[in-house]
Amino acid sequence: MKIVESTADIRERLKSHRGVSKIALAPTMGCLHEGHLSLIRKAREVADIIIVSIYVNPMQFGPNEDLDAYPHTFNADAAACEAEGVDYLFHPENLYAKGGPKVTLAVSELADCLCGKSRPGHFDGVATVVNILFNIIQPDVAVFGEKDWQQLSIIRRIVSDLHMPIEIAGAPTVRESDGLAMSSRNRYLESDERNVSKELRASLQAICDAYKDGETQASPLIASGRDWLEKHGIKPEYLEIREAANLASIDQLGGADARAFVAAKVGNARLIDNIALEPL
Ligand code: PAJ
Repeated sequence: MKIVESTADIRERLKSHRGVSKIALAPTMGCLHEGHLSLIRKAREVADIIIVSIYVNPMQFGPNEDLDAYPHTFNADAAACEAEGVDYLFHPENLYAKGGPKVTLAVSELADCLCGKSRPGHFDGVATVVNILFNIIQPDVAVFGEKDWQQLSIIRRIVSDLHMPIEIAGAPTVRESDGLAMSSRNRYLESDERNVSKELRASLQAICDAYKDGETQASPLIASGRDWLEKHGIKPEYLEIREAANLASIDQLGGADARAFVAAKVGNARLIDNIALEPL
């Protein structure tokens, strides 16, 4: 595995692979866990040359968010990538123009709901950095996790709206044994908080179970999830059911594929999760 820090260098190295091998990119912010590693394995299934990027993107953090506290574990990350057979680890110091970017991507509508409501500008930051990474690497396929479903939906729209010749592959959420979705931010949890955080997933499961039992109206389904969270002392930032493909709100399930989404602050960690509610 080659660790590459400059844009010119990675471009030069990828030249010999273009048109010969299928190139896959898995963008990350480091502090890699099994969720990230599953993206690498997925990339391996569909491509020959695997690039992982590690870049903590300042543009996607709000002024009061955890940019400065965001964990950096580069040596362990590099070892994990090497063990997974990654070909190139792209680790740039900065991806933005001197003095900050003057041209960025703006995401409308898809960024107005769920996490976008409490994190204004977050998805513009994600869209801009992913666009930069796509322009540098020019992958045939890029892999993103379903844990960040809104992010995945937005990236699918970037690629289709801007006619980018890149296939987007989604990878299922990898979980701890008690159901908590793996996240670099889970390390912020104290042990009692870690214990209660499994209830996020359990609240989504309660919604899924009620749906499978025949409830198809969104509001009683959401109420069952809220009751679950309340019982465990969690006040969600949001708990919503939306269409899976375009995140449109829905009152009545049973038509298009739907998903339930939850976000909650547990201690210092802001946790998110989602679950499929497919037509019965
Ligand atoms: P980061 O949070 O490091 O996540 C990198 C990728 O790993 C994302 O596609 C995310 O959805 C996926 N991922 C994280 N936890 C996962 C889990 N438990 N199971 C499956 N996949 C998981 O998401 C970002 O970084 C950034 O926004 C980025 C896309 C790199 C742009 O800066």
